[in-house]
Amino acid sequence: MSLLITGGTGYIGSHTVVELLNAGDDVVVVDNLSNSSTKSLDRVEQITGKRPVFIKADICDKQAMQDVFSTYDIDTVIHFAGLKAVGESTQMPLEYYHNNVTGTLVLLDVMKQFDVKKLVFSSSATVYGEHNVSPLVESMPTSATNPYGQTKLMIEHILFDLANSDADWSIISLRYFNPIGAHVSGLIGENPNGIPNNLLPFVAQVAVGRLPQLSVFGDDYDTIDGTGVRDYIHVVDLATAHLKAVAALSKVNGCMAINVGTGNGTSVLQIVNKFKEVSGVDIAYQISPRRPGDIATVFANADLANEFLHWHAERDLDDMIRDTWRWQSQNPNGFE
Ligand code: NAD
Ligand code: WQD
Repeated sequence: MSLLITGGTGYIGSHTVVELLNAGDDVVVVDNLSNSSTKSLDRVEQITGKRPVFIKADICDKQAMQDVFSTYDIDTVIHFAGLKAVGESTQMPLEYYHNNVTGTLVLLDVMKQFDVKKLVFSSSATVYGEHNVSPLVESMPTSATNPYGQTKLMIEHILFDLANSDADWSIISLRYFNPIGAHVSGLIGENPNGIPNNLLPFVAQVAVGRLPQLSVFGDDYDTIDGTGVRDYIHVVDLATAHLKAVAALSKVNGCMAINVGTGNGTSVLQIVNKFKEVSGVDIAYQISPRRPGDIATVFANADLANEFLHWHAERDLDDMIRDTWRWQSQNPNGFE
């Protein structure tokens, strides 16, 4: 029996593949390499001494997905594959809806055809929209403010409807907060194309001199120091949450959404100062206008993950920043 990992050469997928291989699981990775390369799997092999099966395929390609399911004895799917840049999604909505929503529909259709009905899906805290007050709880109303967020919300609706229609499905939708950090080896990490959109890769690239300075988007929020507060979670803790979720699928009849965060909020300036402390490098920054669509404070209530998955974040902010810095300083140009 194998686990199918869509998007397994990407940032969160590659870290999860490491944990799965270390746990002795058989892993089949499908990725179209639109935002990654197989170099991450070379590094996964360096870390674990094992190499997962890799198939270059697009999840929208039904025939290719059918070939995967007929060749390998797939038992469970962890579905990471998707486009994830919020700004880009507003410029290319059709590509985002097609890739993320159609891709998931094709995957689900093929899973159904092969009677594989266990799924862990990569959702996002973005589904809480802009009106809920943190700590965010799974029972709160959901909404979306951009096409990327809409795709996550639409997919969650599809998953709930599917599970309601057929009791054989067991689905967990993990709502990630802000994944950062890297494997402790420094061999794999986040490798964004072009100028990073997210805070940590941006700060890390300032630290290694690839970018001149950080723009801090707003210092007049109602937060500890006026800058935005988020729930940063170490990518390896996030990876282990997937193993716990796979194990918990046997307890799930239907579809469940579960937050994966630490429950702690950290501001932009706290991140900048911590990065400086850990790396010894000064992070040049300027205060800039607020970024449209941002909200002041987002952090999780992580009780359900603690109780239902028996999962707790084990790594603190020092670990997250130290591991980000190790990855970035050892690989200033990513996997290149
Ligand atoms: P990533 O871009 O590093 O990984 C996604 C992978 O999916 C890439 O390797 C890409 O090549 C692949 N992919 C995209 N479309 C595909 C398709 N049609 N067919 C096959 N492969 C395809 O991103 P990540 O940060 O590892 O994110 C993984 C998942 O987690 C995504 O679904 C993302 O939306 C979700 N997520 C990420 C974050 C975050 O901040 N990184 C937060 C919440 C949710
Ligand atoms: C964090 C904080 C910014 C960059 C996004 C997506 C979300 C999810 C995770 C996938 C905010 C500030 C940032 C910069 C800054 N992705 N910032 N200067 O916005 O919480 O979430 O990634 O699902 O859907 O929206 O993360 O890392 O972009 O920002 O000051 O150059 O850092 O304003 O307060 P965000 P982020």
